Amino acid sequence: MSAQQIPVITLDGPGGAGKGTISQIIAGQLGWHLLDSGALYRLTALAAERQGVAFDNEAALADVARNLDVAFLPGKENEPVSVILAGEEVSQAIRTEATGSNASKVAALNAVRDALLQRQRDFQQSPGVVADGRDMGTVVFTDAPLKIYLTANADERARRRVKQLQDSGIDAKFQAILSEIKTRDERDMNRDVAPLKPADDAITLDTTEMSIPEVVTQIIDLAKARALV
Ligand code: DC
Repeated sequence: MSAQQIPVITLDGPGGAGKGTISQIIAGQLGWHLLDSGALYRLTALAAERQGVAFDNEAALADVARNLDVAFLPGKENEPVSVILAGEEVSQAIRTEATGSNASKVAALNAVRDALLQRQRDFQQSPGVVADGRDMGTVVFTDAPLKIYLTANADERARRRVKQLQDSGIDAKFQAILSEIKTRDERDMNRDVAPLKPADDAITLDTTEMSIPEVVTQIIDLAKARALV
């Protein structure tokens, strides 16, 4: 099978819509690879911070992105992937709101996005990949045979983010998270390069009132209907 024929399911949408959890479950059920592209922007932000690179120095940030020394180690059954940056386990460190906010800033820079493009496309490996992000269907995998745009209203997304952070032992306040989500939506949707929007051929699922298993079942059914699995 040539690389282009290896199936890709893209899941794009704003933060807190459930993409991360749902991508992980679908990749696990299908036995496919998982691309968490947001982690690459978060890792770039964290590495830049640690190397003392300013968040307005586009060329230096692109160098950081290009030279990221990162490994994604698959977790055991139902365990999340471990993210290793330069030999250090950073799975928790990249999930803080501060790193998410810095990630959104570096992600608005064209040179950084270019530097990460091929690294993302390299995840297209047999038997398939589930790609989670903002521009998976519009830029990175434009030929993907199944594109999903997952969304939910901002209050619900903030509630989910608070729970997710609290479950992993990070203190989180609803109002602060809601305002952070709105700021980040604004930046991600209105930037010049690869703004967050549904691909023309994406199917939009509003998950505000849906459970995780319902969303997973719908997407797997769509994949079956398109003979991807
Ligand atoms: O999905 P996330 O919260 O881990 O993403 C962190 C930031 O990275 C988010 O604010 C937008 C950016 N991002 C992006 O611009 N393009 C992607 N494909 C994935 C994430």
